[in-house]
Amino acid sequence: MEHVEKIIDEKIQGKALVTENKKQNTKKLFIESYGCQMNMNDSEIVAAILDKEGYNTTQILEEADLVLVNTCSIREKAETSVRKRLQKYNAVKKINKNMKVGVLGCMAERLKEKFLEEEKIVDLVVGPDAYKDLPNLLSEVYEGRDAVNVILSKDETYGDISPVRLNSNGVTAFVSITRGCDNMCTFCVVPFTRGRERSRDPKSILEEVQSMVAQNYKEITLLGQNVDSFLWYGGGLKKDFKKATEMAQATAVGFAELLDMCATKFPKTRFRFSTSNPQDMSLDVIHVMAKHRNICKYLHLPVQSGSNAMLKAMNRQHTREEYKTLVDNIFKIIPEMSLSQDMIVGFCGETEEDHQDTLELMKYVKYDFGFMFTYSERPGTLAGNKMEDDVPFATKKRRLQEVIDLQQEHALFRTQQHLGKTEEFLIEGTSKKNPNEWKARNTQNTVAVFAKDAYKLGDFVMVKVEDCTSATLKGTVVGYSDNN
Ligand code: SAH
Ligand code: F3S
Repeated sequence: MEHVEKIIDEKIQGKALVTENKKQNTKKLFIESYGCQMNMNDSEIVAAILDKEGYNTTQILEEADLVLVNTCSIREKAETSVRKRLQKYNAVKKINKNMKVGVLGCMAERLKEKFLEEEKIVDLVVGPDAYKDLPNLLSEVYEGRDAVNVILSKDETYGDISPVRLNSNGVTAFVSITRGCDNMCTFCVVPFTRGRERSRDPKSILEEVQSMVAQNYKEITLLGQNVDSFLWYGGGLKKDFKKATEMAQATAVGFAELLDMCATKFPKTRFRFSTSNPQDMSLDVIHVMAKHRNICKYLHLPVQSGSNAMLKAMNRQHTREEYKTLVDNIFKIIPEMSLSQDMIVGFCGETEEDHQDTLELMKYVKYDFGFMFTYSERPGTLAGNKMEDDVPFATKKRRLQEVIDLQQEHALFRTQQHLGKTEEFLIEGTSKKNPNEWKARNTQNTVAVFAKDAYKLGDFVMVKVEDCTSATLKGTVVGYSDNN
């Protein structure tokens, strides 16, 4: 229970992000990020843009010249958390009158100018594709005007910006490879807030990875709403690919190739990626994963529901049977693959039978991890406009609990499979519970804790797994792995 609740919470928690200070910078930026990993990475891009404008980051709200909150709209709860945070900023602004407050991200895009009317404290509203305009927008604000830029772009990927790594452990980092989403799942606000899908130039991706490797980072997660749909054909929207020249089409780079390039060029660096939409997941990617030891054997493969009626209503482009076949094929190629899901319970019209189908699909796959939510109606989406949010809240809550309990069982089943084995782990930080223990992850993304001994942050070590809960493995280091 504790583990599953924790991961749900992490998805909506705000985090004040900081980095090392630069002497020449005189202004202070407090930047807080809600929602997905993409948002965390976007905040790093924003910090890089503002670093050039003379801002250092701070974790102390009261001393900030500029407060930015990178927001999430995915569920109502995420938006409510941000509104509450704005009240806190308001209280601080009463004392620190010169402090400016800006809203970034999905809520900025969704609410646009309305934000300024609804929340008097806000000086600045900037959508996810407009961060390069921040210096101009800030000048407006300092001249006493409110500033808004929520224009979505056809080609902005921030490929030319080196993110300032915030709150970094120095070992793991994110690199964005696509932006936006074209899938139009009927429940989802992302296509409206993050715009159409576009991919980043592989050259700039490899250069960013190179610079991370040079800084001694050991694990890179390639990020996108829909990474498997990555398609570089010289720039532009994914949906315009067919309009590209024959030459551009023939030399296009897809996700399997990009992954292969990364893993080949940086054989000592671990690669992960997220998120994989089942409809775009090709077995080519699985074969590339199988070929390279340094691509982690973990797939986040959200399914949302196990019922065909719900999948259809959600506009997911596959059936439960197709999803099962995909999972079968994945396990055939990589038997030790770890899988995780996103699940929405209580979507419009969900019956008890639909819910049972979800539980049945989960039993079929036995996911290692899960992120589970009750359906939250989002204004402007197709489901929000056209479908009735008709499952009573108590039923949603009960179904969610059943899904969480089952996931808990499967997580334990999966962690138990590691018992007695000696596996490679990458040390990425100190255990939250015990300062004398390291926290590390294996290829499957399963966390282990063990005594620190003489090992260091960033070491690849071999750990004998001796005990487990549903969330964590416990073990003893037996030595370095040959990847150091
Ligand atoms: N790109 C991912 C999803 C990104 S959104 C994909 O391929 O599916 C992250 C998760 O939030 C989704 O997978 C979904 O489970 C959840 N989610 C999105 N909209 C939601 C809503 N309106 N209510 C509840 N959960 C939602
Ligand atoms: Fe949302 Fe579906 Fe895209 S869940 S992010 S519209 S794949």
